[in-house]
Amino acid sequence: MTERPATELGRILVIVPTYNEAANIEKTTGRLREAVPEADILIADDNSPDGTGDVADHLAASDDHVHVLHRRGKEGLGAAYLAGFGWGLDRGYGVLVQHDADGSHPAERLPAMLQALRTADMVKGSRWVVGGRTVNWSPLRQLISRVGSLWSRICLGLPIKDVTGGYNAWRADTLRKIGLDDVASAGYCFQIDLAWRTVKAGLRVVEVPITFVDREHGDSKMSQAIVVEALIRVTLWGIAYRAGQLSGAARRRSKTAGTGS
Ligand code: GDD
Ligand code: MN
Repeated sequence: MTERPATELGRILVIVPTYNEAANIEKTTGRLREAVPEADILIADDNSPDGTGDVADHLAASDDHVHVLHRRGKEGLGAAYLAGFGWGLDRGYGVLVQHDADGSHPAERLPAMLQALRTADMVKGSRWVVGGRTVNWSPLRQLISRVGSLWSRICLGLPIKDVTGGYNAWRADTLRKIGLDDVASAGYCFQIDLAWRTVKAGLRVVEVPITFVDREHGDSKMSQAIVVEALIRVTLWGIAYRAGQLSGAARRRSKTAGTGS
């Protein structure tokens, strides 16, 4: 691999998971290359039936900043990212970025996110902070996203507005600290899972506003199963977290009562 100029945080890898994104991947890769020329890109393709993997191979053949991870088959967004993170950590990247393939995430905001990462452990491109917004997203999807974030905040006490957001920049160290070995979330719940682990570890999350534009080509892979998985997992984590808070408070009360007598 050719040497890249190292940023203060180390070399940058943008991971782009794909499932049937043949019509989108070239443009997305081009936008990323233009926005942050020093970054490498890893396309993590789940053997897409529409030939995305072949398009990705062509892009990689003509640009040594572009790499392709061919996976067996569709195993979900979480599994693709875990494989991509593993690929990048093994190769010594200092920053790992999650970025959708369908043009919804503005590559042009990545420099601002990387700037914010200098004083944060993890940065989220956020639709739901001041200055962030969505364009052409259906009212139903906006509702699901807002309710998903709200429910996560209620259950887990997360100080994050766009908890389900999928445009995230990580320090390699943060990923090592939060531990990826036991992440079981398969679908988009993966985003909440990692945000929750980061906050639990006492690490600093900063949200940078983005404009999320709905895809022009292809279909969303969002499904009922993905929503149900997130709902169940977040609720169970919330019950465990709140039970822990209650028993901690009870222990503190009995200790105070003990010392006071
Ligand atoms: N390799 C792989 N395997 N990639 C996948 C899979 C999978 O099983 N499922 C989805 N992807 C890829 C898509 O090809 C796309 O690049 C990206 O993951 C996001 O998928 P979309 O289907 O476009 O997601 P969305 O627009 O409905 O979802 C939005 O909301 C999610 C929940 O908030 C985005 O903001 C996501 O980033 C976010 O997690
Ligand atoms: Mn999308």
